[in-house]
Amino acid sequence: MSRTVYYTATTLDGFIADPNDSLEWLLRQTEEPPDDGFIDGVGAIVMGATTYEWVLRNLDGPWPYEVPAWVMTHRKLSLPEAGKDGKTPDIRFAKGSVSDHYFEMCTATGDHDLWVIGGGDLAGQFADEGLLDEIITWTAPVVLGKGRPLLPRRLDLELLEVGSSAPFVIARHRVVGPLLEDSPAE
Ligand SMILES: NC(=O)c1ccc[n+]([C@@H]2O[C@H](COP(=O)([O-])OP(=O)(O)OC[C@H]3O[C@@H](n4cnc5c(N)ncnc54)[C@H](OP(=O)(O)O)[C@@H]3O)[C@@H](O)[C@H]2O)c1
Repeated sequence: MSRTVYYTATTLDGFIADPNDSLEWLLRQTEEPPDDGFIDGVGAIVMGATTYEWVLRNLDGPWPYEVPAWVMTHRKLSLPEAGKDGKTPDIRFAKGSVSDHYFEMCTATGDHDLWVIGGGDLAGQFADEGLLDEIITWTAPVVLGKGRPLLPRRLDLELLEVGSSAPFVIARHRVVGPLLEDSPAE
């Protein structure tokens, strides 16, 4: 069964990047990116334009994702170069309501997970439409005070799982829905 999962690293105070879109605070935490197997279960990904541009700027080799990728943008952005095998990465630019593209994204996953890479508002757009199932956070032992927010919405969550992979605390939450206090009184 396919899930739509916002899977991201965050600071303890809830930022996924600093105000200049730097991830230095994250990249210096471990020599090798830790692996919990999540990526193996992903069938398609979706990200916002800022995240896409960050990936392109920091590419050290070919496009890193093998699954179909959606990039939400109002602009005409460039594609990365083809890999050594000559294959152009499967990147689809889209705009507007995420619900307009959701069926196509889910179909592309082939019953695997749809990974919402970020940013936080994009994950929020999925939550707004009731399309976000889970949030998995890798919390780094850092506070930044300001930056790009993890998820600028008001939502109730249910804790499903918690663990650690030093120096990160890992938590998996189910998205229950809009904050109870925001629901209209019966
Ligand atoms: N810590 C982590 O693991 C992690 C994970 C992901 C991202 N990041 C970082 O966090 C930062 C996130 O940046 P961000 O918050 O600005 O978010 P973002 O989601 O990456 O980019 C936001 C931009 O995406 C476009 N967009 C979003 N929704 C759209 C829609 N429905 N239709 C059309 N265009 C849409 C708009 O750009 P245009 O209108 O200009 O096209 C918008 O300004 C980046 O620096 C990224 O590298 C960190």
